[in-house]
Amino acid sequence: MTPLRLARYPLVSALAAAMALAVVAGPADARVAVDEAGRVFRLDGAQVTYAFGVDEKGYLQPLYWGGALDPAAPLQARATRELSGFDPAGMQTAQEYAGQGEGLVTDPGLKVAFADGSRDLVLKYRSYRLEGETLAIELADIARPLVVTLRYAIDEQTGIVTRTATVTNRGRQPVRIEAFAAANLTLPGASSYQLHFLSGRHAAEWTPHAVPLSPALTVLESRRGSVGHGNQPWLALTRPGQTTEEAGPVWFGALAWSGSFRLSAQTDNIGRVRVAAGYNSHDFVWSLKPGESLESPRFYAGYSHAGLGGASRTFHRFQMERLIPGGAAAALRPVLYNSWEATAFDVTAEGQMKLAERAAKLGVERFVVDDGWFGQRNDDKAGLGDWTVNPRKFPQGLKPLIDKVHALGMSFGLWFEPEMVNRDSALYRAHPDWVLNFPGRPRTEGRNQLVLNLARTDVRDYLLGVLDKLLRENDIQFIKWDYNRNWTEPGWPEAGPDQQRVYVDYVRNLYFILAELRRRHPGLEIETCSGGGGRIDTGIMALTDQAWTSDNTDPFDRLAIQDGFSLAYAPAIMMAWVTDVPNWANGRTTSLDFRFLSAMQGGLGIGADLNKWTAGDEDTARRWITAYKGIRATVQRGQLYRLVRPTEGAAQTATLYVAPDRAQAVLFAMQRGSQWRDQWEPLRLAGLDPAATYAVRVLGGGALPEGVPARASGAWWQNQGLTLRLRGDYVGLGLVFEAAK
Ligand code: DGJ
Repeated sequence: MTPLRLARYPLVSALAAAMALAVVAGPADARVAVDEAGRVFRLDGAQVTYAFGVDEKGYLQPLYWGGALDPAAPLQARATRELSGFDPAGMQTAQEYAGQGEGLVTDPGLKVAFADGSRDLVLKYRSYRLEGETLAIELADIARPLVVTLRYAIDEQTGIVTRTATVTNRGRQPVRIEAFAAANLTLPGASSYQLHFLSGRHAAEWTPHAVPLSPALTVLESRRGSVGHGNQPWLALTRPGQTTEEAGPVWFGALAWSGSFRLSAQTDNIGRVRVAAGYNSHDFVWSLKPGESLESPRFYAGYSHAGLGGASRTFHRFQMERLIPGGAAAALRPVLYNSWEATAFDVTAEGQMKLAERAAKLGVERFVVDDGWFGQRNDDKAGLGDWTVNPRKFPQGLKPLIDKVHALGMSFGLWFEPEMVNRDSALYRAHPDWVLNFPGRPRTEGRNQLVLNLARTDVRDYLLGVLDKLLRENDIQFIKWDYNRNWTEPGWPEAGPDQQRVYVDYVRNLYFILAELRRRHPGLEIETCSGGGGRIDTGIMALTDQAWTSDNTDPFDRLAIQDGFSLAYAPAIMMAWVTDVPNWANGRTTSLDFRFLSAMQGGLGIGADLNKWTAGDEDTARRWITAYKGIRATVQRGQLYRLVRPTEGAAQTATLYVAPDRAQAVLFAMQRGSQWRDQWEPLRLAGLDPAATYAVRVLGGGALPEGVPARASGAWWQNQGLTLRLRGDYVGLGLVFEAAK
C-alpha cells in the first residue's frame, strides 16, 4: 500500500483528517482517497468530487458525482432493500459497475455466459489498490472466478474522471462475454433530466439533439465497425429549468473508441439516471479463455456547474492538455491547402506545383495532395490499396513536388486511405482474402471499395510496412488518413467461431499502426478523416493531430456543424476550409469574406481551385490569412463561448474565443439574412478580465461598426456588451479585443 505522504499534499491533509484516510495519492489538487475502513472511495479534483462506496452486502455503489464536497462529507453506502417483489435488491441497488444477474433490468457493465450455460453474474467488492495516481478496485462474482478491475483517475485541472474496466477469467473454462462496458454511471432520481447527443450523416454531421430522458432506453451507438457519421460516442445530461448554455449542472461523458460503440441512458423505476458505455454488444461475442483478460476502452466522465458552455470548455481543456499528441505543447494547426475540391483525381506533378506556388503566395503553411496520386487512381473505381506513386502523373516520383513545396516554405502532406481496397487493384488481385467477408456471400461495395480486415496481423503489418516505407523514402510531414465507407459483411473467416473479436482487434490494430508511425517518424502529423467527420472521437484524438470535420464546406452549414462539434470536441483539432462557390454541397454562393470568417473559427485551410482566383481574391485571402495568424492561438487554444447558437432558422450566430491569459478575445458575428433592418440583441462577452481595458479592432481591418467604442473595460464588454447591425445576407464580422498592457 502506498505510504501516507500527507505533508506533501496540504489539501489532502484536511481531507485525510476528516475522513481518517488510509491512502492518498496524486498531486496537490488531484486526490484519490480511501477511508480508514476501506469502504468509501473518493476522487477530488478541480472542484469536482466523485465518490463510491461498499455497502453491507458488498455491492459497490455510486455515492456522489458533482461539485466539490467538503472533506467531512458523510459519505456512506447503505444496503438497498427490494422495492417490491417485482424489484429485487440487486436491481434496486445502484451499482458502480453491474454484472448481468440477480434480475438486473438496466444495462449492465458486463454480461457473460459461463461454459455450463449459467448467465448469472453478481459482482461484489473484493479489494482496492493504488497504481500510481490510479485507483484500482477489484470486483468479483460471488461464486465464480471472474474478476473485474475498475480503474479510476481524476484530472487535477478539469476534474475529469478517466475510467476503464478489465475483465479477467481466473477459471478453467472459457467465458463468453456478450456485453462489456467501460463504465456504468448513475445519477440520483430527479423530476427530469435532459439527454444531449450528436448525430448526423455524411456532409451533415454534428447535429445536436436534446431530449427528455425517460424510462425508454435511449441508445447512442455505432454498428458500423467505425464511429461513423451517425451518433457520436459522447453524451451530456442536464437538468431542465436549471441548466442553460452558461449555468447549471452538466454531467458529460465520452468513450475513447473508434469502432462500434454503445452508450445507453434511461431513467430507472425510481427516476435515477442509468448509463452504460462500452463496446457495442450488437453482433459482439468475445471468448475469454482461462487466464485471459479483456480491457475496455477509456471512458471520460466530467461535471460542470457552468452549463453546456462550461462543460465544453472543461472537456476542450482536458483534450488539449491531456489527449492530443503533445498536449499543451502541441503545435498550432498550420494554415493548409488541400487539393481535393480543386483537382479531385486529376492530380499531376505539374498541376500541384502550380497550385503550390499560388498557395504559398497567400501565406499557406502546409500543402496537401489529396486522393489520386497513386496506383491507377483516375476515379474512385480503381487503385485503392496500391500505394505506389502513379508514374504517368508523377514521372519523377513525388520528390520534385515535395522539394518545390519545401522550397516555397510549406510543409508537405499526402492523402491515404490505408484500410481500403478497390476490386480493381493489384492488392485485391493478390489478396482477395484480406477483406472483411463472409465466404459465399456478396461483398457489398461502398464507393466501389471493400474494407481490408485490419484485425489480421498480416494485413496490419503489411500496411504499416507500406506506409513506413513511403514515409522513409519521401520527406512527408503530414498524412491525411481517410476512410470512406463502413462495414457491411463483418466476417473474418480465418478466426472461425471467435471472429466477432474483429470489432476490437481491428480498432486496436488501427491504433497500433498510428502509434507506430508516430514513433518511427517523430514530427509526423496525422489528420483523421472519414468522408469528413466519420471517425472523430477521444480515442483516435490521442493519435492524430487534427480532424477533418465534414465534407460539407458550405460556410453557413458549417457554422451549425462547428457549433455541434464544439459541444464535444475542441476547436484545436477542428479543420475548416475555404472552398469555391457555388458550393458543391448545396449550390450556395457566398462571399469570400464570409467563407473565411466561417473557416477561421477552427484550423483554417483552403480547398479552392486557386487557378480560378482573381488578383482581388488573392488579396482578400492574403488579408484574412494574415489576420488569422494573429488570432489563431486564441481560436485554437482559447476558451470558447457560444454566445448565440445557430439554432434552426436563426438569422444570427456569434461565437467568442478568449485566450487562456485573457489578453485577447475574438468575436465572430455571422448573419444569415437581414429582415426589417433589425439590429442584433446586445452581445455580452464573457471570460474577460473585468478590470482590464480592452481595445477593439475589426478583424482583417476596417472601421468599427457605429456605436462600438474603441476601448472599454472587460466589465463593460461583459455587462453592457455591444449592439451590432450588419447589412446584407451571409455577412459576418470579426472583432478582436486586446487587453491594454
Ligand atoms: C473524403 C474526404 O473527406 C475528402 O476530403 C477527400 O479526401 C475525399 N475523401 C477523397 O477521396
